[in-house]
Amino acid sequence: MRMYDIIKKKRDGGRLTKKEIDYFVSGYTKGRVPDYQAAALCMAIYYKGMDLDETTALTLAIKDSGDTLDLDLGGVRVDKHSTGGVGDKTSLIVAPLAACCGIKVAKISGRGLGHTGGTVDKLETIKGYRTDLSTAEFAKIVRTAGVSVIGQSGNFAPADKKLYALRDVTATVESVPLIVSSIMGKKLAANDDCIVLDVKCGSGSFMKSRENAEELARQMVSVGRNAGKEVCALITDMDRPLGNAVGNALEVIEAIETLRGGGPEDLRELSLALTAQMLRLAGMGSTEECAQTARKALDSGKALNTFAEMVELQGGDPVWVYHTDRFPAAEHSLEVISPADGYISRVDTEKYGEVSLILGAGRNTKDDKIDPAAGFILKKKTGDAVRRGDVIATLYTTDKPQALEEAAEMMLSATVFSEEAPEPVPLILGMIE
Ligand code: URA
Repeated sequence: MRMYDIIKKKRDGGRLTKKEIDYFVSGYTKGRVPDYQAAALCMAIYYKGMDLDETTALTLAIKDSGDTLDLDLGGVRVDKHSTGGVGDKTSLIVAPLAACCGIKVAKISGRGLGHTGGTVDKLETIKGYRTDLSTAEFAKIVRTAGVSVIGQSGNFAPADKKLYALRDVTATVESVPLIVSSIMGKKLAANDDCIVLDVKCGSGSFMKSRENAEELARQMVSVGRNAGKEVCALITDMDRPLGNAVGNALEVIEAIETLRGGGPEDLRELSLALTAQMLRLAGMGSTEECAQTARKALDSGKALNTFAEMVELQGGDPVWVYHTDRFPAAEHSLEVISPADGYISRVDTEKYGEVSLILGAGRNTKDDKIDPAAGFILKKKTGDAVRRGDVIATLYTTDKPQALEEAAEMMLSATVFSEEAPEPVPLILGMIE
């Protein structure tokens, strides 16, 4: 078999066999296939696509390129995965919430590049919280508390690590089969029984249109099912940030408020909906029954206590969970002021993400240091009435005070004002089973 023939076949719109896909993935992982041939194949896939059998084969080859996590945790293991968006801190809420309702959540999360750190960076803003646990420690905590959230270590899906880095510099990230195989390859290596996907759609996500988000969700669900897992996906709106807080410590504090039964309405709604689907896939009843179970656990403080237990077992100070004034506060802040009367009719959510990045909350390169206190809190969101002079948001930073003015201008230029109230858009746009 030759890479040249595989590339040519896909370039001409052919259908790759499982053997050809395995040859490519294992050859690339082991360094036998050079970057230039892998890049050419990714570009051919970008233009010609893949059918479901090809995408499933690519996903399984990525999963099989490294270790899989085989844990005996004495219960059904369920995970939730979001395709990522601005202010998305639902993992911090749904993981302890689902666990305290009776399922096992053994979550391996990333750091990632972008407007804020990943779930792991957010959790590390809690004093002492360790994300570098051994597999044995990880399993023990899940058996005890029902939940543990750690960072990626070990040799999971090494093919994806190489391929994703290559796609990032060859303009081939935005390809549905490549995204599906990348996300699902890693998820299948983690080996959960059930997976609930939160596929974001809109200006703050990489799927800008509803059609593309639905196509991505359909293919991820189908590939997961072909691999023998219970999978469903919610399509959710990312034309506005989720919740009010964007930034690492700010998001943990908002997640804790939500775990206390408060928090912003949109964050609570989505966290409950995702948890209900996690419980339903685990066989705990209908969507309605599971939503009821989740609501009770959130409002009773049970989920908050489970979160505090996990924090303590991972070396963190649980007092921070009950006293959020312990989190690091930013040294500098600036209010963003509305220049007009009317309504906020639309925001460019991606630009809002960039605001948080230039304040120091995220990373441009994997070696960048994160400012845990940086980010912003929104006081007004899409649909809200505003008066000239109202505060729209407060920006926070410790490391980059010189960026505050530019960040405020950027936020205002990404905010559209109108005289009429915009049509409300639901947060949960659909579900794919
Ligand atoms: N996230 C991933 O893990 N992979 C992709 O291809 C896109 C987003």
